[in-house]
Amino acid sequence: MLNKLKQWKRQQGSDSFEERFQELVKHPIPGHIAIIMDGNGRWAKKRALPRVAGHHEGMKCVRRITKLANELGVETLTLYAFSTENWKRPKMEVEFLMKLPEEFLGTFLPELIEENVQVRMMGSTGALPSNTTKAVTKAMEETRHNDGLILNFALNYGSRSEIIDSMKHVLKDVQNGILDENQINEEVFSSYLMTKDLKDPDLLIRTSGEIRLSNFMLWQLAYTEFFFTDVLWPDFGKEQLTEAIEAYQGRSRRFGGLQSEES
Ligand code: FPP
Repeated sequence: MLNKLKQWKRQQGSDSFEERFQELVKHPIPGHIAIIMDGNGRWAKKRALPRVAGHHEGMKCVRRITKLANELGVETLTLYAFSTENWKRPKMEVEFLMKLPEEFLGTFLPELIEENVQVRMMGSTGALPSNTTKAVTKAMEETRHNDGLILNFALNYGSRSEIIDSMKHVLKDVQNGILDENQINEEVFSSYLMTKDLKDPDLLIRTSGEIRLSNFMLWQLAYTEFFFTDVLWPDFGKEQLTEAIEAYQGRSRRFGGLQSEES
């Protein structure tokens, strides 16, 4: 919780974002932050640039936020980079988006390795261009022993298809006698999802003023705190991350129960 002095300083405008950023670690930091990075197109349009220029700027923002999250000791950062529905976009835009992981990793992989970041990907790889898969696989391979921030890209990811695929897998295991039907519970089902060895997100951020989940981590977000901001993804920086984490730190998470003083 923000104390009175902190609130007063903020009202006086004397508390810079830098100071506020430094203060964050004195309170619980969300272990897993998931972000729906939205607003690249509008960012570009505002500057009379092609939409893809917004995506390219958005890629730079990924680097910025990864660095900050790592500094704060966030354990996992999951970024919605391409949804199963994004294939409906114009061919040229899809091709551009597909090249971004390659460009990002081609540029930043050495730094990510130095910063002990572990790169992961969730989504279905089948439909991805081979160069994209190659770049991501290489990064995952080269960072697999890193034990700092997990940078998890949701690429060609859709939550409903993830749930259906997991359900099919569960059924198959039941049919083959690997799993007893009576053993199926939330924990077991979670272990069939693409996030099987990750904790559920503590904080979900969506930029650009849109207030919906767009088929993102529907199962995993059951008890997550949500933070929506009007800021467009390429403009999302230290100040906005600070604001989002402060909002999270001000929430009381009850997971359906009561606060300790109420019980
Ligand atoms: C939504 O904004 C954004 C996307 C569909 C793509 C997000 C991708 C990035 C931010 C870059 C990813 C970088 C790496 C390294 C994989 P929009 O285009 O829908 O924006 P709009 O709603 O303003 O049109």
